[in-house]
Parts: sequence; structure tokens; C-alpha cells
Amino acid sequence: MLSTLRVATRGAAVARRATAFRFQAVRAGSTWANVPQGPPLQKGITEAFKADSFDKKINLGVGAYRDDKGKPYVLPSSVRAAEQKVVSNNLNKEYAGITGVPEFTKSAAVLAYGKDSSALDRLVITQSISGTGALRIGAAFLERFYPGAKKIYIPNPSWANHGAVFKDAGLEVEKYRYYNKDTIGLDFEGMLADLKAAPKGSIFLFHACAHNPTGVDPTPEQWKEISSAVKEAGHYAFFDMAYQGFASGDTNKDAFAVRHFVAEGHNICLAQSFAKNMGLYGERVGAFSIVAENAEEKKRIDSQVKILVRPLYSNPPIHGARIAAEILNDPTLYKQWLAEVKEMADRIITMRALLKDNLEKLGSKHDWSHITSQIGMFAYTGLDAAQMDSLAKEHSVYATKDGRISVAGITSENVGRLAEAIYKVKG
Ligand SMILES: Cc1ncc(COP(=O)(O)O)c(C=O)c1O
Repeated sequence: MLSTLRVATRGAAVARRATAFRFQAVRAGSTWANVPQGPPLQKGITEAFKADSFDKKINLGVGAYRDDKGKPYVLPSSVRAAEQKVVSNNLNKEYAGITGVPEFTKSAAVLAYGKDSSALDRLVITQSISGTGALRIGAAFLERFYPGAKKIYIPNPSWANHGAVFKDAGLEVEKYRYYNKDTIGLDFEGMLADLKAAPKGSIFLFHACAHNPTGVDPTPEQWKEISSAVKEAGHYAFFDMAYQGFASGDTNKDAFAVRHFVAEGHNICLAQSFAKNMGLYGERVGAFSIVAENAEEKKRIDSQVKILVRPLYSNPPIHGARIAAEILNDPTLYKQWLAEVKEMADRIITMRALLKDNLEKLGSKHDWSHITSQIGMFAYTGLDAAQMDSLAKEHSVYATKDGRISVAGITSENVGRLAEAIYKVKG
């Protein structure tokens, strides 16, 4: 009779042979024969738009600013000028340190927290691969070191990538109430109730300004209440600030929530992006920061951020960060940049007003005030999926099925036709 040990050993050998056989069977075809097809990451707006031959088609699905001619925009007096300066400086291409270009990160911190912020002396900051990279570093840090539950609450709805970024970093993701589709506004009561109902010490993600996709932001008074509720529950606040300056045209106003939380004693963490406010999309310029309690804690956190970043990508790219650093550190370029950010924000605000005016002039009986009360690049129209489908199929107007339109895609020339299309579909 076989002993138990011999049976187990023989069993293991059989299992090894079976695995080897399966591996060979797969290898007989392609190594990746069993990789399943993933669902499309984009919702196909670009393809449908491209395939449409109508010359007056409108693309409101783009997540990037467009000028009044519908063209991509490079900020001429700040970004172009700073880039010329960077190029003419003939700098070398040595690696930056793990946390990036110091002239950039120092000034990015001042831009976000304010020059007199108590956070600056105890701030851990690292350059990141734009806002997405900042979120990912933050998520990885929380996953490794957050003392409470490894779960993050994000607004419902939120930027489509938030869930994926946090889940891929190993955090559990849950949603809190944010948008009220009946009022096409903030579900403030629901949001507060969810904040209060979450277990003490939970992590909450907040969009600092220009909430994507709804364009609905809390007012300063509401932020104050949110801050108090977060403090009372001992929650931890993670801010995502992808649109500073781009929302209202004023970088200080857009940083209200972040600065208020810090002033109220929250040691927040923050993801910053310079994709929208500097139009540096493809340059991937961003920063991730954590407000530490004191200098000693800052030192420890900083060492761990470096340990985390090093095996991810060693150190970040330098060109875009040098451009941003020139702008943020040169008083003339900085002034010109502020004017250009305001110009972009103002164009968006004007297009919102024009769309609403045109709808009203056509005789629409709907209340379109949400179009102008919302802020930032995106507007939630309140149109449902079937109406968005009709907009695309019957009027060559393309946007996401959730009724979100990118206001950056509206121009003085197409706003009239857009209003007519919406009026025909919605009344
Ligand atoms: C809310 C929000 N966070 C972060 C990002 C990240 O952008 P990026 O990685 O291009 O900086 C975006 C981009 O659309 C966004 O809308």
C-alpha cells in the first residue's frame, strides 16, 4: 500500500505533467492565444465622427480644449514662449531625480496651496506623469501605507478612469452620491449623508474644481460643510485638481477647496495636472503631493514616495516640466499664462451662455440654466441615451451617451446648429 507521502508526491508529479502539457498545447499556437479581447476603452465617438461625411458635423466628445475654430490650441504667449526659452537654453538631457524637476515641483506646490500656505514647509511632492500618474502614485501610496481600510469613495459619477486607476493600484472603490439627475445639480444632502454614513477614517476622493463629467461643483459654503463632515468622521481627503484656473479663469478661486481643507487642518493629498490649464496634454506634466504633519514625518513619507516611484519609471520626463517651470517662475510668462488661462475659461463660459441663449430663442420650454451654472470643460445636458443617439444619427452631433458634452468643442460658428439639433431632439 502506498504511504500518504508517496500518494501526495505522485499526485504532485501528475499535476506538474498536466501543467507542462497544457503549456505545450498553448505554446503550439501563440503564447498569448488565451488572452481575452477586452471591451473598447473609448466609446467609439471618434470613429463614428470620422466615418460621418457631413461637413458640418460636430464632435463634443473630445476631452481637450479647442479654440473658436475648433482647432487644438498651444498657448502662444506662455507655453510657446517658454518652450522657445527652454530650447534656446541648450540644456543637457540628463535624468531628473526620482521626484522630477525641482523648479517645477516647488512652483506647482505654490500654485496649488498658495504662497503663504502652512503646507509648503511640510509638503512631500513628486512630479508625475500628468494627473493620471499623480492619482496612480497616490493610490499606490495609500494602498501601501494607509492605516485604515484600503477603500476609496469616489463621486457618482466620476471621471471614467478614476475607478480603474484605484482598482489597479489595489484599492477597493465605492461611490458616494454626488449628482442629482432631477435637478441636474449637486445632490448635496446625499453627499453629506454618504460622508457621514461611511466608516470612520475612510478615504474620500474629491474633484477640486470643474467636476468631470458633470460640471457641477459645490459652492464655497458647501465645501466648508463638506470639510467639517470629513473632519468629524476622521476621513482622509484625496483631491484631484485637473482643471486649476481652467474652471473659473482664476487659479486662486479654483483652489478654494484644497486651501480651505488645509487651513482647516486636513493633511490632504493632491493630484495636479497641467494638461488642461497649460494645454500640455501630451507632455504629461503633473504632480502628486502629500501634506505631512511636520518635518520629521515629511522626511519619512518622502523616502517612501521615492521607493514607490523608482521601480515604476525611475524618474519622470523633463521637457514639459521645464516648460511649466519657466512659466511658473518667470513673472512675465506667469502673467501671460494667467491671461491665457482666463481667455480659455472665458471662451467656455461664453459658449455655455450662447448655447443657452440659442435654445431659448428657438422657443425651448426647458430650463437650461444648468448649462451656465455648471463649470469647466464639460456640461451635463440632461439628455438621455436615446436622445444622444438621435443627436448623432440625425444631426451629426457626437458626444457620450450619458448626455455629457465637451463645451470646448462648441464654436461661434457651430453653436446655432447645435442648439437647433438639441431643440429638435429634446424640445
Ligand atoms: C477629473 C480628471 N482627473 C484627472 C485627469 C487626468 O488627466 P491627465 O492625465 O491628462 O492629466 C482628467 C482628464 O481628463 C480628469 O478629467
